[in-house]
Amino acid sequence: MIDGFNRTIDYIRLSVTDRCNLRCRYCMPPDGISCLPMREILTYEEIEHLCRIFADLGIRKVKITGGEPFVRKNICHLIRRIKQIPGIDSVTLTTNGTLALQHLEELKAIGIDGINFSLDTLKPAVFHQITGESGLEDVLAAINKAVSLQIPNIKINCVPVRDFNLSEIPDIAALAEDYPIHVRFIEMMPIGLGKDFQMISEAEVCHLLKDTYGSLEPIDGIFGNGPAHYYHIPGFKGHIGFISAMSHMFCDGCNRIRLTTDGQLKTCLFYENGIDLKSLIRNNCSDEELRQQVCLALQSKPQHHEISSLPPELRGMSQIGG
Ligand code: GTP
Ligand code: 5AD
Ligand code: SF4
Repeated sequence: MIDGFNRTIDYIRLSVTDRCNLRCRYCMPPDGISCLPMREILTYEEIEHLCRIFADLGIRKVKITGGEPFVRKNICHLIRRIKQIPGIDSVTLTTNGTLALQHLEELKAIGIDGINFSLDTLKPAVFHQITGESGLEDVLAAINKAVSLQIPNIKINCVPVRDFNLSEIPDIAALAEDYPIHVRFIEMMPIGLGKDFQMISEAEVCHLLKDTYGSLEPIDGIFGNGPAHYYHIPGFKGHIGFISAMSHMFCDGCNRIRLTTDGQLKTCLFYENGIDLKSLIRNNCSDEELRQQVCLALQSKPQHHEISSLPPELRGMSQIGG
């Protein structure tokens, strides 16, 4: 699929639940959000049906997101089904890692193509401060096991926040020294509760890492298929990445669309301008019409975001799936 600005769209992010077992301060209020009732949530059959439509249209990569994907029952079943769709080359997952451990062997057997673990700290007390819960040991155990099972493309996502984890950035980066995994630092985006936090820029984190490790070499050429760009620290097994939506706009290379838990197709993280695919499939719309509607919606994909004037109705990160 090609959008109105000549970008090839071959990647979809599927949010399979808006629920989460954590309450990260920049994402979910302590008493949670009002979650969607079950009837509003796409069933696994509906998600698979839509994935076949997306694959027909040229989607090759699928990312499973939440909320937290593992809070939805039997998520591995859905992943297995999506892996079997002709045309889909890669199915990956983004998780907070706390519930992942028991599913990793099955994911390995299914042939998962990558897992991104969110990890903002290595200290249990700070983990509790950020997420409102315990569970750091479970995340670290899951990362360890994923490495030992040789699951491909393991990445860590860390959002630096000045009062929480800034001093730990070099230690978190060091996970890429010890393991063949990539550690990415994400600039806080002003979505939902993220608005209440000051963004720590890529430049500041780079500075910290250069001070600690002496060198941070940009990796030229294309590496990965997302908004992250990467650096190398000599002696490290994995790379250091940055997702810098605030300081480095990457919209020119955008390759993605999103399907929310309640079946809305979103053409951009920052806009609510897609279409209601759930109503279409529940009204027995034909596959041909679904394909046409998706192509039509794609033409409304904006050229780039205007972070200074986000729509007031924009949902929170956990409801969109990041
Ligand atoms: P990989 O293909 O595994 O590299 O995935 P990814 O980096 O696209 O996905 P991941 O789920 O790990 O997301 C990491 C962060 O990137 C989250 O904070 C997402 O919100 C953010 N992100 C992903 N896609 C976009 C995008 O299109 N625009 C912006 N601004 N942020 C994005
Ligand atoms: N800005 C940047 N990243 C965010 N995440 C959640 N909310 C925000 C935000 N406002 C991150 C999580 C997780 C990833 C999927 O998205 O920390 O690592
Ligand atoms: Fe849950 Fe992820 Fe939001 Fe944290 S950032 S509350 S783990 S959805």
